[in-house]
Amino acid sequence: MSATEIVIRRPDDWHLHLRDASMMAAVVPFSSADFGRAIIMPNTLPPVTTLNQAIKYREDIKKAVPGEHSFEPLMTLYLTEMSTPEDIGSAAQNGIIKAVKLYPAGATTNSESGVKDWQKVLPVLEEMAKIGLPLLVHGEVTDADVDIFDREELFIDTVLSPLRQKIPELRIVMEHVTTDTGVNYVMSSDSNLAATITAHHLIINRNAYLAGGIKPHYYCLPVAKREKHRLALRKAATSGDAKFFFGSDSAPHLDGLKECDCGCAGIFTSINALGCITTVFEQEGKLENLEKFVSLNGPEFYGLPANSSKTRLYKTSRPIRFPEKIQTSGGTVTVFNPLFAIYWQVDNRVEE
Ligand code: DOR
Ligand code: ZN
Repeated sequence: MSATEIVIRRPDDWHLHLRDASMMAAVVPFSSADFGRAIIMPNTLPPVTTLNQAIKYREDIKKAVPGEHSFEPLMTLYLTEMSTPEDIGSAAQNGIIKAVKLYPAGATTNSESGVKDWQKVLPVLEEMAKIGLPLLVHGEVTDADVDIFDREELFIDTVLSPLRQKIPELRIVMEHVTTDTGVNYVMSSDSNLAATITAHHLIINRNAYLAGGIKPHYYCLPVAKREKHRLALRKAATSGDAKFFFGSDSAPHLDGLKECDCGCAGIFTSINALGCITTVFEQEGKLENLEKFVSLNGPEFYGLPANSSKTRLYKTSRPIRFPEKIQTSGGTVTVFNPLFAIYWQVDNRVEE
């Protein structure tokens, strides 16, 4: 399909980092401009481990949403080895908790309180399977002797597969899948397993941060892999397959914390993610499946209705200019540069 205008249900972002304080104030308006809802990651400092923390965090996020935007934060809890089935079960009774996030300890930003031994959290996972609360996994093993490019595959073999055999009823999202192995595994599994895909993993491969000099603003976790993996992700995302939906993993860090001896992982995309994704679908000749990926497949997995409002995307004659950096009161944050021009303008003021 080639088109210059496309109207879709308002998109959602099924994996988003909003941080807190001044960073939150600076980044929330970009997400709430283009997305109706977002699954909010709980890896703040301290992490969001209790219902009360989630309620407070949600209120703070809502306060940062500009009055003219409509945006619903969908909250998650951070799973630790101290989490109990009773706590998670009773938290889930409050409708604001939509999922629980499993970070293997040491896998990424603020994952120190994460899970070292997944057998220890089995009682919580069994309770979640019982009440239908999805588990969101950061699918990488963290053993220091495992090559960083093999971490996703090993996670599937040593954690995800055995876990799914043990608790087949547990609904699981493999967050930010990055390999052809991951894509094939999700495709060949039953409907209790789905995956989110980011905009940046559809656009960059490992050359982006390693070739021609170290480029910290293309460094994220899981790291972008070889070209064949990027192509597999593009095929899955644009296929319309209900198991794949958009999760930006937009993860802002101050530039000073990325441009240093031990830079943080994370790419800030919420400002241009929808334009990037639409361009990818256009490049693949699959604009007819865009709505499934960004607006329909996610709510279907979570058992929520799709947004009733609509978004119009139309092609402009000149490339849309996004800032290279945004300002926060703590410093600047670099915006993802897809290295191609974006001509797709987002118009949220569509008549019902
Ligand atoms: O690149 C990443 N940044 N990957 C993650 O899993 C976490 C995120 C963050 O919070 O900075
Ligand atoms: Zn993330």
